[in-house]
Amino acid sequence: MAEQFPTVSSRSAVETPVVRPRRLRTSEPMRRLVRETSVEPRQLVLPVFVNETLSEPKPIASMPGVVQHTFASLLDAAREAADLGLGGIMLFGVPAEKDATGSGSLDPDGVLNRAVREVREAVGDRLTVMADLCLDEFTDHGHCGVLTADGTVDNDATLEIYAAMAVAQAEAGAHVVAPSGMMDGQVAVIRDALDDAGFTDVVILAYSAKYASAFYGPFRDAVDSSLDGDRRTYQQDPANALEGIREALLDVDEGADMVMVKPAMGYLDVLRQVKDAVDVPVAAYNVSGEYAMVEAAAANGWINREAAILESLISIRRAGADVVLTYWAAEAARLLRG
Ligand code: PBG
Repeated sequence: MAEQFPTVSSRSAVETPVVRPRRLRTSEPMRRLVRETSVEPRQLVLPVFVNETLSEPKPIASMPGVVQHTFASLLDAAREAADLGLGGIMLFGVPAEKDATGSGSLDPDGVLNRAVREVREAVGDRLTVMADLCLDEFTDHGHCGVLTADGTVDNDATLEIYAAMAVAQAEAGAHVVAPSGMMDGQVAVIRDALDDAGFTDVVILAYSAKYASAFYGPFRDAVDSSLDGDRRTYQQDPANALEGIREALLDVDEGADMVMVKPAMGYLDVLRQVKDAVDVPVAAYNVSGEYAMVEAAAANGWINREAAILESLISIRRAGADVVLTYWAAEAARLLRG
């Protein structure tokens, strides 16, 4: 009788493991070969703040390494972002004056529109220039829309301002407008307004599943926010995933070219579900509080900073983000290039 060779099934997996996943982890070249996800500079977008009252960049205490830019330092940052091959830059403005309707957002020489124009002049089409489309930086009450007499955020009155703001940003040269105010119907009115004004090629990146999150805390310092209260009547409840999917589907229906989930790290499940539900590119925003946590732990020597940054970004990509907005974009691009 021919001698039987042991087969996988005849050997005891307990005495000697037959299946050894560790084989694929034995060396860096082997790990590299089977790596499923990567992060590339082209997928990263750098959010930046510009303050029109400054004569030199001003550090943001709760976001070590991030500043409020002057126009001059903003242009340096934009050129550097282009040189690093980043995917884009997302501009936020800090105006000298705020009012109840956020009128600075519509002024062609207002801080944000001026920043868009100057950045576009500096980088041309070497970098995708994105503008935050929201009123909170421009209103004296800090809400993302205008208020009714009883103090609630007036959805439909706000839409009219968003439509005009989108056109102002497009006229300034934005490649992408990014409505982040969570008003119902915002994508549809913005698409309409852009098309009517002849900006059919301006892209809408919709903040679709945007949660009322404590992790935006440092951002409020970054834009000198005057918000007193919270945004829970328009941003989503952190407990809900379904409405995140619903918001994303609605935005795609209304004409969003890309949708976003925000924050990123605490919402990776929502990110995956949105990615599986839509047929447009999905972005995720690695927000200020997520940045601050890693920076604070690293400053105390409690975490390996660079490893934690790269692991954060790879996790967000693995969960389904095609595009990642992150304050580490420039540094990550440098790290990734070795
Ligand atoms: C609203 C806006 C916010 C952020 C981006 N756009 C703040 C908010 O909704 O309260 C937060 C970004 C961050 O925390 O990094 N314009």
